[in-house]
Amino acid sequence: MSDFVLSRYLTDEGLLVEAALERAVGRLEPSLEPDLAAALRHGVMSGGKRLRPILCVTAYRACGGTAREAAYDLGAALELIHAYSLMHDDLPCMDDARLRRGRPTTHQEHGEELAVRAGAVLIPAAALQALSAARGLECGNGGAATVAQRLMEAAGAGGMVGGQWLDLLGENEALAADALDGLHRRKTGALLAASLEVGATAAGASPPVIEALREYGQAIGLAFQIADDILDGTQSAERLGKNPSDADLNKSTYVSLYGLEEARHRAEELVHEALSALTNGGIEAPALVSLAHYIVARDR
Ligand code: IPE
Ligand code: IPE
Ligand code: MG
Ligand code: MG
Ligand code: MG
Repeated sequence: MSDFVLSRYLTDEGLLVEAALERAVGRLEPSLEPDLAAALRHGVMSGGKRLRPILCVTAYRACGGTAREAAYDLGAALELIHAYSLMHDDLPCMDDARLRRGRPTTHQEHGEELAVRAGAVLIPAAALQALSAARGLECGNGGAATVAQRLMEAAGAGGMVGGQWLDLLGENEALAADALDGLHRRKTGALLAASLEVGATAAGASPPVIEALREYGQAIGLAFQIADDILDGTQSAERLGKNPSDADLNKSTYVSLYGLEEARHRAEELVHEALSALTNGGIEAPALVSLAHYIVARDR
């Protein structure tokens, strides 16, 4: 795989992820009122980099997994949680954003009530989808239960939801370095790390390999949010498809704490940490190496 081309990989994998998300949304729609279904579709089928599912299936394959559709269904479960987190993140009571993925946010288009409800529908849907997809893979019933548990832990109070709460509390505060690390690791790092861990678990990987991928995921997860903070401070709404808002909301970010240059340096250090975790775990996966570099080099 020395001729690995990341842009082609992201495009090809992205198409398979879109198909899995279409299946997931299609399964949910019959039980939803039409206006709720439309809001949910707006929040999920709206583009985006689809990085969490891509990381999940990449880890799955790096651990020897060979299944096709069910692996993407598992990856799509992570994206359902991510999509819900963005729908709620954009609400007026959170970041009050009008633009997401180059389009009006879900509440701008469908109203706050439907954006809240559609987001809530996605949480149990993601857990059920993770469980049933993992049952179709190489990890047995015990492994499938672990997959669902890890996904919900990463999404919950100890992970994304807790981090989002800390993020709101951190507005107009100058958080110390440790507190900011903890906030970022929870709000963004937890779900990214779970993407890797869940993919590896579904492939029936050994505990040391799962642990190495978790370490890789934690490092790129933190780097990912640092990059998000840098992009928020340096890029246009047109480029990002969302409105830069951290300065206006007086958020605690890596850029506000350290400045741009130091934030970039910290992100690079974390990429090296991630790559060391792969080497130490004996995991040879050019796609994971490229994805780690991409996470800090991306421009949106
Ligand atoms: C944005 O996530 C929110 C964060 C967790 C930083 P992404 O940058 O993955 O957004 P999409 O999915 O590509 O739109
Ligand atoms: C959001 O962080 C993290 C989530 C869990 C959704 P941000 O608020 O920085 O994400 P963007 O910049 O709006 O995408
Ligand atoms: Mg936010
Ligand atoms: Mg936001
Ligand atoms: Mg941001």
